[in-house]
Amino acid sequence: MHDEILFINIAKLVNVREQNELVRGTDLAKLPILEDAFLLIKNGLIIDFGAMFELEIKIVQLPQNIIDANGQFILPCWCDSHTHIVFAGSREEEFIDKLKGLTYAEIAAKGGGILNSAKKLNETSEEVLFDAAMVRLKEIAQLGTGSIEIKSGYGLSVEGEIKMLRIIKRLRENSDLLIKSTFLAAHTYPAEFKENHKGYIDCIISEMLPIIARENLADFIDVFCETGFFSPEEMEEICIAGAAIGLQPKLHVNQLNSIGGIEKGIKNNALSLDHLETLTNEEIVLLANYKGCSTLLPTAAFFLRMPLQPARKLITAGAAVNLASDYNPGSSPSGNMNFVTSLSCIQMKMLPEEVINAATINGAFAMNCQNETGSIMIGKRADLILTKKIPSVAYLFYSFSINNIERVMLKGKWV
Ligand code: NIG
Ligand code: FE
Repeated sequence: MHDEILFINIAKLVNVREQNELVRGTDLAKLPILEDAFLLIKNGLIIDFGAMFELEIKIVQLPQNIIDANGQFILPCWCDSHTHIVFAGSREEEFIDKLKGLTYAEIAAKGGGILNSAKKLNETSEEVLFDAAMVRLKEIAQLGTGSIEIKSGYGLSVEGEIKMLRIIKRLRENSDLLIKSTFLAAHTYPAEFKENHKGYIDCIISEMLPIIARENLADFIDVFCETGFFSPEEMEEICIAGAAIGLQPKLHVNQLNSIGGIEKGIKNNALSLDHLETLTNEEIVLLANYKGCSTLLPTAAFFLRMPLQPARKLITAGAAVNLASDYNPGSSPSGNMNFVTSLSCIQMKMLPEEVINAATINGAFAMNCQNETGSIMIGKRADLILTKKIPSVAYLFYSFSINNIERVMLKGKWV
């Protein structure tokens, strides 16, 4: 029984669940915790857990590998459902421009922003891009992220987009993180199609999608629905074509403007609607009644100095809120989910229980991997955060930017 690991004396085993359910509204504040617990892992999966007093009855033969958690906590790993971690080079020159007063839109108009990253990506080899993304994956795994969605969207050409998706596929094959892939050619219009939107959309639909279908390169499809980028109608056309090859939408909507992306996204069966900095009261009601996930990206708003998402209003209305990092070189050059969750408590007034549900089980739902990870449940991957000795769950978020993680385990293996 060498492949078995038994944790004993876990002060708090956090987010233990018997079934998978997307957590909505006031239920987000309900976080199931087992105190003074054990947890048994076999072949990388959770096979049992319970209270320490039940240990002798439940586990007849103890495995050789026993880890005394000695008062520490165990949480499921963070599920980061929205990132752009395949990119070439950083963009701190824009950061400086912003410090000097230029806006996101002005930087984009200067040929910066997404187009800047696209230029760099197209000039960089697949090998270099793969290695850089792998380093980022290893860094965030150490920070407790166990599953992640990664988008294309810095290629903006048939060659560039397919290159990005092949890199994501290789990352998935070579990493212990659970990785989902999203096709985001509709991130912006490349310069040569600036005045020919139809031409680029046709290229996405009739040139890129067939390759993706043939090589099975993506799980989801995304569109940046925003003034100056893709209109709700353009987004819909792309979503319909994606759905025809089995790609469910996960969409960038309402980051800067409310232009109808939420309504269209819901109509097109989006798994998640992401960003949501700018919401009307009517849109909050739409999200409350929407069966998918409302994905908040607070570090993007923080980095761009925008008002953060109205998390409290969404939760009170009954939305299924989740949290993700948006890790990308332009608007969130960090994938630290410990900071995402702290920031959500400090600036959006989410409760510690709410941010844990939002960044674990609901994040898993937002990537359709809730059967594999996102909570402490029998049969799920052993994707675990072992904390240092801390006084409470709330302390994790209160002590922002302090590293409270002792070790991280992915699929039963220490990172
Ligand atoms: O999610 N808003 C669109 N896309 C990214 C930013 C991409 C970039 O600036 O490179 C985002 O914030
Ligand atoms: Fe994004």
